[in-house]
Amino acid sequence: MTNLETTILIVDDDEGIRDTLEAILQQNHTIYKADSGKSALSLITEHQVQIVLLDVLLLDMNGLEVLKEIKDRFSDVEVIMISAVKEMGTAVQAIKLGAYHYITKSFDYDEVLSLVEKVVERQKQSRELLYLRSEMKQFLDIEFITGRSKKMQEIYQLADKVSSLPVTVLITGESGTGKQVLAKYLHKKSLRSDQPFVTVDLGAAPETLVESTLFGHEKGAFTGAIRQHIGKFEMANGGTLFLDEIGNLRYDLQGKLLRVIQEGCIERVGSTNTKKVDVRLIAATNIDLAEAVQKGTFREDLYYRLYVVPIKLPALRERIGDLPELIEFFLRRYNKRFNKHIGKLSCTAIDTLSSYDWPGNIRELENLIERMVALIDGDTILKEHIPLEYCLQEIQHQQEGKLLEKAIEAFEHNLILRTLEKERWNRRATAETLGIPLSTFKYKLKRLHILDSLPQKRRQHVS
Ligand SMILES: Nc1ncnc2c1ncn2[C@@H]1O[C@H](COP(=O)(O)OP(=O)(O)OP(=O)(O)O)[C@@H](O)[C@H]1O
Ligand SMILES: [Mg+2]
Repeated sequence: MTNLETTILIVDDDEGIRDTLEAILQQNHTIYKADSGKSALSLITEHQVQIVLLDVLLLDMNGLEVLKEIKDRFSDVEVIMISAVKEMGTAVQAIKLGAYHYITKSFDYDEVLSLVEKVVERQKQSRELLYLRSEMKQFLDIEFITGRSKKMQEIYQLADKVSSLPVTVLITGESGTGKQVLAKYLHKKSLRSDQPFVTVDLGAAPETLVESTLFGHEKGAFTGAIRQHIGKFEMANGGTLFLDEIGNLRYDLQGKLLRVIQEGCIERVGSTNTKKVDVRLIAATNIDLAEAVQKGTFREDLYYRLYVVPIKLPALRERIGDLPELIEFFLRRYNKRFNKHIGKLSCTAIDTLSSYDWPGNIRELENLIERMVALIDGDTILKEHIPLEYCLQEIQHQQEGKLLEKAIEAFEHNLILRTLEKERWNRRATAETLGIPLSTFKYKLKRLHILDSLPQKRRQHVS
């Protein structure tokens, strides 16, 4: 697991205490020191401090006042209070105001160290809890089904190769082809798999909030920014950030994103300080970014920065041979969910689904299988179970398949009629002219319904 350094601020007016605490903690963490409440508050903003060790009695302010201000402005900063003497009243008040713990200045080395490590762990956990847990459950059982198609095999091999490298991957493909599934799979296979996987849907985020969603904001940065907010880049620190629908990112923010990628630092909205972030980027889009660059709606420099490893997922209709494997996978998933035992689709049912176009790709297939498993009893899905809209294309294809046969029949029909007329409706003469035995000719007359197509009067002439 990557050990991300924590930034700790030591606030005490006693230089000796400051230096002792620094000596204890500096091996694993970045340390800042302040001798007053006021300088402490400005250092927290400036260096994005995560933990504060705070003296109860300061020269300029009461430590509890500083604590209140810290918890009010920086809700995710944890504070450990340090007091010269043990005083229950102050301790209780400090905890009520949101302090993590309360220690006296007679602390020993191990006590401080283990307390700080506990806070570090807690912060890590709450970060994961908030941003990861909801994703995690569905994430752990992410399966990227490829099937046997050459295209998907190539993608699978490429994905395995790049998953462990810190390179940016740009995934393109129609809606429902599995862009998000692939992004999660890449993360799961990477060395960062125990770190957060954070998604930003740039297609769904309200435009005015995109910047703060990505980079966070400070309290008061704009109207409505009532508290500090951690952006998705920071949430994903150490892990993977999935920028979905990147083609929708506003032009001015494209420039900002490019800077962040190049410099590896973010700036929260309303802050002038930068914070280092270590994030692996995966972007996805179903629009043609190269075309957007041509039209001038997508920045060329950002395009090339993202286009390091491009992966284009094929539409389902281009890999229809993978259908059986995908069906089997979704049958397993929905049998389990609905407690059913549908083992397979009949061959004719698979043929019908293979003729379909799948505009909604794998998502559409999954929805169909879910619907059929939910509604059907028995152990096999038959052609009759497939909703009509999925069968129309097969019927059309079948009719198209008879096109040549029909054209030949029409030609024969026409030729026989003209020859009959020329031979004054004499069958034997007509058969001879056409170069076929009389019996064949008679058979054709009947099969092509040639006499039926003649007026009654004319029919009497045929001898
Ligand atoms: N290779 C795959 N293996 C297993 N399931 C898949 C695969 N590809 C897609 N799916 C299923 O299809 C659904 C849609 O996939 P996903 O959300 O990744 O599509 P997308 O390309 O991101 O679509 P959109 O452009 O609409 O966001 C997923 O919920 C998943 O269940
Ligand atoms: Mg998607």
